[in-house]
Amino acid sequence: MSPDDLDQIMEIEPVAFGSHHWSQTSFINELSNPSGYYFVVTDEATELLCGYSGFWLIGEEAHITTLAVRPDLRRRYLGELLLINDIERAQSVGASWLTLEVRVSNYVAQNLYFKYGFKNLGTRRKYYQDNDEDALVLWAENIRSDEYKKNITLRLEDLAAKMRVSDMGLIPTALSENVQNT
Ligand SMILES: CC(C)(COP(=O)(O)OP(=O)(O)OC[C@H]1O[C@@H](n2cnc3c(N)ncnc32)[C@H](O)[C@@H]1OP(=O)(O)O)[C@@H](O)C(=O)NCCC(=O)NCCS
Repeated sequence: MSPDDLDQIMEIEPVAFGSHHWSQTSFINELSNPSGYYFVVTDEATELLCGYSGFWLIGEEAHITTLAVRPDLRRRYLGELLLINDIERAQSVGASWLTLEVRVSNYVAQNLYFKYGFKNLGTRRKYYQDNDEDALVLWAENIRSDEYKKNITLRLEDLAAKMRVSDMGLIPTALSENVQNT
């Protein structure tokens, strides 16, 4: 993710997260946060930004702070690709655990996280200030274990096969990055 991506991100952000969304200033701050790692999926042909995600690395814990896909490009495995990218990047910078908060009502995102070994650790009451909704705190451990890495490899193979046979007009051709520790 780079500052040039922010105009397109700010089109997606309110649709994806409603009134609780991050501001452009939040993203600018995140891009200079030494603990932040943020990524986008773009379509190289059209330069359309399809989705984005990222995490903070705090000790051995990677805290996924955001994940969103353009509404018209959902259900094409881009969210899953972004999550796998977060996981692999987190592994490579030394994370052993992943954590995140998700709305109790957000079954779509929960389904995705449960596919990747996240477990429900507890609830943060009234975490979301727009409607006082509770957050589930999800947690995935031992992400650098051989077993976890093998699972990710299998998932990626499955995903690659699904994406090849999909009839999507837009194929994610680039997973570009901006690692913030520069
Ligand atoms: C969550 C989000 C990123 C998923 O992105 P996506 O590209 O549409 O998801 P994918 O196509 O990669 O789907 C991956 C998995 O997610 C789950 N999923 C995705 N859409 C779903 C839906 N409509 N209903 C149920 N499960 C769904 C499924 O487990 C799916 O795997 P499967 O198709 O093999 O069952 C997207 O819905 C989004 O941007 N939502 C708004 C922002 C948000 O809620 N972010 C998460 C904050 S914690």
